[in-house]
Amino acid sequence: MFVVRWDCFSFALVFAVSFILSRAEVCNGGRTSSFVRNDQLSNDMPLDSDVFQVPPGYNAPQQVHITQGDHLGKGVIISWITQDEPGSSLVLYRAENSELKSSAEGIVLTYKYFNYTSGYIHHCTIRDLESDTKYYYEVGIGNTSRQFWFITPPEVGPDVAYTFGLVGDLGQTHDSNRTLTHYELNPAKGQTLLFVGDLSYADAYPFHDNSRWDTWGRFIERNAAYQPWIWTAGNHEIDFLPDIGEVIPFKPYVHRYHVPYKASGSTSPFWYSIKRASAYIIVMSSYSAYGKYTPQYKWLEKEFPKVNRTETPWLIVLMHCPFYSSYVHHYMEGESMRVMYEPWFVEYMVDVVFAGHVHAYERSERISNIAYNVVNGLCTPIRDPSAPVYITIGDGGNLEGLVTEMTEPQPSYSAYREASFGHGILDIKNRTHAHFSWHRNQDGYAVEADSLLLHNRYWTVSEESAVAGM
Ligand SMILES: *[C@@H]1O[C@H](CO)[C@@H](O)[C@H](O)[C@H]1NC(C)=O
Ligand SMILES: *[C@@H]1O[C@H](CO)[C@@H](O)[C@H](O)[C@H]1NC(C)=O
Ligand SMILES: *[C@@H]1O[C@H](CO)[C@@H](O)[C@H](O)[C@H]1NC(C)=O
Ligand SMILES: *[C@@H]1O[C@H](CO)[C@@H](O)[C@H](O)[C@H]1NC(C)=O
Ligand SMILES: *[C@@H]1O[C@H](CO)[C@@H](O)[C@H](O)[C@H]1NC(C)=O
Ligand SMILES: [Fe+2]
Repeated sequence: MFVVRWDCFSFALVFAVSFILSRAEVCNGGRTSSFVRNDQLSNDMPLDSDVFQVPPGYNAPQQVHITQGDHLGKGVIISWITQDEPGSSLVLYRAENSELKSSAEGIVLTYKYFNYTSGYIHHCTIRDLESDTKYYYEVGIGNTSRQFWFITPPEVGPDVAYTFGLVGDLGQTHDSNRTLTHYELNPAKGQTLLFVGDLSYADAYPFHDNSRWDTWGRFIERNAAYQPWIWTAGNHEIDFLPDIGEVIPFKPYVHRYHVPYKASGSTSPFWYSIKRASAYIIVMSSYSAYGKYTPQYKWLEKEFPKVNRTETPWLIVLMHCPFYSSYVHHYMEGESMRVMYEPWFVEYMVDVVFAGHVHAYERSERISNIAYNVVNGLCTPIRDPSAPVYITIGDGGNLEGLVTEMTEPQPSYSAYREASFGHGILDIKNRTHAHFSWHRNQDGYAVEADSLLLHNRYWTVSEESAVAGM
């Protein structure tokens, strides 16, 4: 099955010449970090941990989290859960510099999963907010109310500086808590978190004990109630368990984590897009149909041409399963989707693709592998200035632990790889430059274990170089 192989080592001699030629274009080999990490499995934090505490008071809102609520960043979806009774789905909010309180009415829903019944899950979208403004908001009106705040992004525009955090495969272990703490205390100060899938890992428990979705919601509240987390669905969100009658994929996830998919013309919460500051972010679903003629394909086909790089220079794609990963675990799982969509990534000059799934960190060179046509043998990734950088950031720290086994030798498409837990920061400076850094949990908060000054694919096409690494 050489159709989908990257390294042509198993190829017949007839391919050897083209192999050597294309190989030569990717000559500076990547780095495998020799950092010695603690790779012991970490258990989930116990149920009585501080991070899982239920807020006091009758029917107090818990698991408060926010995400973008429209296409432009002037809306916010506020979600929370009440346990005792439905209570109110009202949100009261006001801008920091104003006494005038506005209100918005949301919806409340519940779901059952085997013998688990959820609390009352509230979702309320507030719209038409001022840009670049701090808002206070209050939920739980009528019973125990709680107040939080967020800051809206600046108006969409080409040179708007903005800082995104990147976390994937977080789970709820002590390592997860370290990752979140390092993200919070990183002096780079992420303003919005791009989450690349695999949230709670509740499916690790018998009958996918959904109370572990609740503990996860309480764990992330300390950050997700104050800044939007942009959601991507991973395989641990599927929760497909026909043995106990649970045959609707993604049931807990779609009830708990709403996203503004309709605002981008999508028909499904699993793929959608948002604009935020100078970025256009496309979220894809590795676990929904993506072949030709499928709803996801048809949406993406229309979506890429809509991106106006004069308005939003930075084109970012999020997905769960990486196209390029050189770890042994999950090796080539993203291959069929890569074959489908990589030509568009190159055609539309995507700047960077973030994925999770593989519990480690890896950054690729700008490479593409789209020349192959079944007979020409051109199946090796080559350097391609129009191609994205692929970053695997599945190192949030869940109970499955790190994957440490790597394919050897390190393939030339791989620029840097390390099996340590951590998070990423994408610090967009202006239309031409963005600084990406990766931060491992063992280091001080400001330390960049790997970093790259990204040059925008539309506005510049000059070479990039890694600026740190240790
Ligand atoms: C999680 O991290 C926070 C912030 O560092 C800390 O206050 C808390 O005690 C930690 N909880 C656990 C269970 O490790
Ligand atoms: C659900 O069923 C399992 C298996 O019978 C049991 O261990 C668990 O306690 C039940 N949970 C609830 C909420 O009833
Ligand atoms: C809780 O709030 C709801 C909605 O405001 C109200 O109808 C209900 O009476 C309150 N319950 C208690 C016990 O105060
Ligand atoms: C792209 O965006 C710029 C800046 O907002 C605008 O002037 C231009 O008309 C847009 N182009 C298209 C084709 O919509
Ligand atoms: C964009 O940001 C980069 C990196 O901070 C800086 O070197 C460059 O001068 C900036 N360009 C403009 C036009 O401000
Ligand atoms: Fe995964």
